[in-house]
Amino acid sequence: MIRKCLFPAAGYGTRFLPATKAVPKEMLPILSKPLLQYGVEEALSAGITNMAIVTGRGKRAIEDHFDNAFELESQLSGTSQEDYLKEIKEIITKSTFTYVRQKQMLGLGHAILTGEPLIGDEPFAVLLADDLCDCADDGVISQIIEIYNQYQCSVVAIEEVPMHKTKQYGIITGNLIDNSSNTYQVTDMVEKPEEQNAPNNMAIIGRYILTPDIFEILKNIKPDKDGEIQITNALKIQAKRGKVIAYKFKGKRFDCGSVKGYLEATNHFANNLSINS
Ligand code: UTP
Repeated sequence: MIRKCLFPAAGYGTRFLPATKAVPKEMLPILSKPLLQYGVEEALSAGITNMAIVTGRGKRAIEDHFDNAFELESQLSGTSQEDYLKEIKEIITKSTFTYVRQKQMLGLGHAILTGEPLIGDEPFAVLLADDLCDCADDGVISQIIEIYNQYQCSVVAIEEVPMHKTKQYGIITGNLIDNSSNTYQVTDMVEKPEEQNAPNNMAIIGRYILTPDIFEILKNIKPDKDGEIQITNALKIQAKRGKVIAYKFKGKRFDCGSVKGYLEATNHFANNLSINS
């Protein structure tokens, strides 16, 4: 059973400067809702109520967002504007939020390792809020939990990206094991390969189920040339043991860590709004 979702949210968000100088990237809104709230809603819809957030300097707005705001609430109470807070209040009531600060931004693998005290010795979900996914039915976390329940090992959500973009992603190599559910047994992985070195275009996106042995593996991963500890290198060790499944998720993903992806997501959600209203 997956009870906890880890949200690494300590990164600098350099691609979005100057907006992210004082505002956490994860708090940038798509329409009126911050990216991280979409992520928390996705975890909740998968039955997870324990949200473990890795934050850092300049990220305090995240804690305030997922907390009661008594002054604002009493001001709006009984007015027609009360409804604006309804969704977030429901989320706060249903979920528990725990936090840990990453003291040095040493990469995603390091951020996940920083979350160990919040997770403990159990399998858990990881959600990168800047990868915003819109799914017709179940959210991506629900989809990969189903795969985890079947195989009981780490699961990564993947999508096919244009070959010239492989250098932005972890790329998997694997054998198709279930045609109907687009599931692969991962045999190898490579972090951000140049197009000419990439084995294919199957890229890992910001949704994972990880088994807790990942923490011990991460402790022994050497930093890369930029001094970062990459989760891909830890997953590669699990993959060599036959313990990683890749799953081509059903839905559409937007890379909201880039201005282009953020704009596309805004347009997509705005169009859905006008179709539905
Ligand atoms: P990104 O690779 O998008 O890095 O991180 P970033 O620093 O946020 O953004 P850019 O590339 O500088 O524009 C993917 C996810 O991992 C988290 C980020 O917050 C984001 O959710 N992360 C990354 C950490 O929590 N700590 C890190 O040291 C690095």
